Amino acid sequence: MSDDSVLPPPEIENLLAESRLFPPDPAFVAQANASAEMYAEAEADFEAFWAKHARERIDWSKPFETTLEWDLPFAKWFTGGELNVAYNCVDRHVERGLGDKVAYHWIGEPGDTRTLTFADLQREVSKAANALKELGVQTGDRVAIYMPMIPELPIAMLACARIGAPHTVVFGGFSAESLSGRINDCGAKVLITADGGYRRGKEIGLKHHADEALADTPTIEASIVVRRLGHDVHMVPDRDHWWHDIVDRQSDDCPPVAVESEHMLYLLYTSGTTAKPKGILHTTAGYLLGASLTHEVVFDIKPDDVYWCAADIGWVTGHSYIVYGPLANATTSIMYEGAPDTPAWDRWWQIVEDYKVSILYCAPTAIRAFMKQGEAWPAAHDLTTLRVLGSVGEPINPEAWLWYHENIGGSRAPIVDTWWQTETGQILITPLPGVTTTKPGSATHPFPGIAADVVDADGNSVPLGGGGYLVLKRPWPAMLRGIYGDPERYHETYWKRFPGMYFAGDGAKRDLDGYLWLLGRVDDVMNVAGHRISTTEVESALVDHKSVAEAAVVGKKDEVSGQAIFAFVILKADREPSDALAVQLREHVAYVIGPIARPKFLMFVPDLPKTRSGKIMRRLLRDIAEGRVLGDTTTLADVGVVDTIREHSGSAEE
Ligand code: WTA
Repeated sequence: MSDDSVLPPPEIENLLAESRLFPPDPAFVAQANASAEMYAEAEADFEAFWAKHARERIDWSKPFETTLEWDLPFAKWFTGGELNVAYNCVDRHVERGLGDKVAYHWIGEPGDTRTLTFADLQREVSKAANALKELGVQTGDRVAIYMPMIPELPIAMLACARIGAPHTVVFGGFSAESLSGRINDCGAKVLITADGGYRRGKEIGLKHHADEALADTPTIEASIVVRRLGHDVHMVPDRDHWWHDIVDRQSDDCPPVAVESEHMLYLLYTSGTTAKPKGILHTTAGYLLGASLTHEVVFDIKPDDVYWCAADIGWVTGHSYIVYGPLANATTSIMYEGAPDTPAWDRWWQIVEDYKVSILYCAPTAIRAFMKQGEAWPAAHDLTTLRVLGSVGEPINPEAWLWYHENIGGSRAPIVDTWWQTETGQILITPLPGVTTTKPGSATHPFPGIAADVVDADGNSVPLGGGGYLVLKRPWPAMLRGIYGDPERYHETYWKRFPGMYFAGDGAKRDLDGYLWLLGRVDDVMNVAGHRISTTEVESALVDHKSVAEAAVVGKKDEVSGQAIFAFVILKADREPSDALAVQLREHVAYVIGPIARPKFLMFVPDLPKTRSGKIMRRLLRDIAEGRVLGDTTTLADVGVVDTIREHSGSAEE
């Protein structure tokens, strides 16, 4: 007997159906690093799978004894083993004859360039590590890094890793207060910073923020300052040292310090929306394995690829996929300092053409920004060298996926939509190029060895076609080991909601073919007349319209339906807003996913409030939609955006 009326409503509705399929090209399959067998092998014995790769990929100073000690929620991987991450990322490649291979082609925003080979890195990292030692940094001491995207940033990170001093990189766009908060939370001893960097044609000073922060950080004993801009900055005697003084005069011999597998490699703070930032703790061996294996398999890395992850190293994407993963795999990377629209909207495509980039990894926010500017920018460049494209950071709307596929990937390069988090350290849900048939907008399947599931409020798996909460049911090597100094908060945040499972905080659905679709943060899910609707699906339906470049939707309190859908829409550069278009767009959503999802309000906006890593801040949009005073705006990238939207807000269509 079945009576639908007594069934609880689904945790999150599954509204948007996507039927386009992109099977791998046989030519790609023939040369792919990934194979379907990896899934079966990892499933048969996931610990044995990771252990095998740990033995093969990592150079150990002392082999590990135990693969995994799992005392939920605390994991230890590869205990008994000792290794050095900088050795694995740099020295071993030089020893094997790859000293002259380029590690980074660095491009400054003003057009200056630098090339660093693995031998250059070995020398520079050793000198920087010796400078840290001269300043009294010992194995286990924390070092804070606050820098623009210049080569000294990965050099500084590797210098820390070389002597076993955990680093915490604070994104260069963050304020003095964010910097001092993070320094104080981890008690860092030294700060490595710069006088500034370039962004959108402007000089962005950093040292004055650093000075302001250091007024309030009792544990900092010294700082090292890279000269990037070349202006006079205030140097505090006995505390501040120019990089070119203290590093350049060091010996380039600095033996890497072997540390235990579970030695802390770094902390990376994530800004919670309400509480104080969490110091996400990553350790050595498991992290290195997770980052390097996924990098090689997910991006199909070959020895002569030119790989470009266009994130900032201040985010986890940069840690895992600009620094540790690619360097462990002896990959040649592009590192670009500046903005995608400087001097013009084809800056990236010029770089791809000039350096014959073969793999590009970036965020949907960038793709939608390029979409808005039109196809002519990429079309003016030779992008035929691109053979794999990646996406990370947010759900990628199917239309943005298709735009990326056609205009950047020449309808040829597979797209890997990779889901993961600062906490996960490595990619966890992703297609494998050459193996997976992709669907635009779906991150497809868990990486081999990863147990992901979508569950309802009680923690039961939802059936195919259902929506709910994304969880992970098994530990993985690069997982966070905790929140620095706060084991209780670690347990509460990630392991309490569903006992025995890691709760990622994201909504997800599994379609009838078993593909996973990420639906955004569960805090953003809207409740419209009892239907739990994900922001992602409505946004994708809007972006599906040919006039729309980007959209963000939120729930606005509504007397009738509980919440009503309020859409903020950015049009493509050549389209004009009009009342008629607003009506059309609302109908388009109703047509694509059903009347329940038709936005009640729709506002055209020139821009959206985003975090500095490009995620839409729906919390602020909710405040705007409800006419409230804005909440905390400290993580907002551009505060002016909110005012601009407010000025437009008279024009919402009902
Ligand atoms: C979101 C970035 C959908 C998600 C590596 C996650 C994604 C948060 C995807 C982590 C994706 C990341 N599809 N959503 N492919 N990748 N996210 O810590 O909400 O900056 O929980 O790590 O970004 O963001 P974080």
